[in-house]
Amino acid sequence: MEASPRRQFLKFLTASPLLGWTAAGRLLAEESLDSIDLPDYLIESPADALDVFDFHNVAKHRLPPAHYGYLTTGTDGNETLSANRRAFEDIYLRPMRMVDTSDISLETALLGEQLKSPIALAPIGAQRAFHADAELATARAAKTQEHLQMLSNMASSSIEDVIAARGQPVWFQLYPTNHWPTTEMMLERAERAGARVVVLTVDVNSSSNRVLLGKYTRADGRDCSACHGTRSIDDFRRNYPMYEGSRFDFAEFLTPGMTWGFLDRIRGVTSMKIVVKGIVTNADAASAVEAGADAVYVSNHGGRAEASGRGAIECLPEVVEAVNGRVPVIIDSGFRRGTDIFKALAMGADAVCIGRAYIWGLAGFGQPGVEKVLAMLNAELSLVMSQMGARTIADIGLPHIGIRS
Ligand SMILES: Cc1cc2nc3c(=O)[nH]c(=O)nc-3n(C[C@H](O)[C@H](O)[C@H](O)COP(=O)(O)O)c2cc1C
Repeated sequence: MEASPRRQFLKFLTASPLLGWTAAGRLLAEESLDSIDLPDYLIESPADALDVFDFHNVAKHRLPPAHYGYLTTGTDGNETLSANRRAFEDIYLRPMRMVDTSDISLETALLGEQLKSPIALAPIGAQRAFHADAELATARAAKTQEHLQMLSNMASSSIEDVIAARGQPVWFQLYPTNHWPTTEMMLERAERAGARVVVLTVDVNSSSNRVLLGKYTRADGRDCSACHGTRSIDDFRRNYPMYEGSRFDFAEFLTPGMTWGFLDRIRGVTSMKIVVKGIVTNADAASAVEAGADAVYVSNHGGRAEASGRGAIECLPEVVEAVNGRVPVIIDSGFRRGTDIFKALAMGADAVCIGRAYIWGLAGFGQPGVEKVLAMLNAELSLVMSQMGARTIADIGLPHIGIRS
């Protein structure tokens, strides 16, 4: 088939020695993978969505620039953000014909929990920046669609309210501070509220360079302190209820000194299982397991941690190899389609988390938007499983994929 003029133009742009393969060129090319020839169309209801990118369009249209920037930003020139999507292109699918797939099951188990689907909701902070109902809308959607939800300690809602809305415990994601009593207080509070798992995020211990966020923010003159402001410590405690009663100072917010021994410290105050989030190398995966992690979570924070330029899915094989079946492996960063999720499961992931994809749904339509995103991704995963001849999650494996050389 003849390539479209837009496609030809993109090809020219990325190949042009004049423009080079710049970060901007990459972003444009990356976007083209999922939006070739798209009409500029805004859906009016979740039911109209054909894929998660329909929600992205609405989110971009509805959110104030600074909030959209917070959602979209990568780091530096968005090298890792682009690589997260681009890397899926290098993995192809190998369909298996003539398998009876009349009954597809997405059910699986993770850290002792029975899940209806291997797709879970990644921790995303400050969800009031996207919808007034914030994490409560997400929790209600997680409840109706029966999905695992991870709650950030930077949430706009308290863990008690979120667990009540979901009707079941959530996994509690922790950014520790350098002020141990604050960390200890949050861990105890999460466990008291019913959380059985703590997800320790280790990939932004010393901050990150979110240039695109800065560019959107300077184009937005509004005062954001009411929804997610951090101008004063009082603002901060008001907008992030998990920090209520904490005594830390902003200077103690980051944890550049954190090492693997920190897991012992956590274990000293809680019996919650520990998942380590933000692992991208085999050495760190092995260290996490040796330090007693109950699961390893491959993630580059959706391209928001560092400009490694390496897609999360590219990191998965070496992590799976290093973990060697000792604990489950979870992955996120860049997952937008059922085929993406299938590829990770085939490469050895036990569960896949989505981040921006469900926030696009939240920003567009609140709870029904998140519900539709989950329903669509489950339907897409079921379809690709059927095409690949896999009836269950356990049937999905390496024979279903190949890597382009
Ligand atoms: C707006 C936004 C806020 C986030 N907040 C947190 C957070 O509070 N804690 C955390 O561990 N990760 C956070 N993340 C990273 C996500 O948990 C997840 O790793 C990432 O979104 C996955 O990439 P994806 O958005 O491309 O799916 C955030 C990501 C975004 C986009």
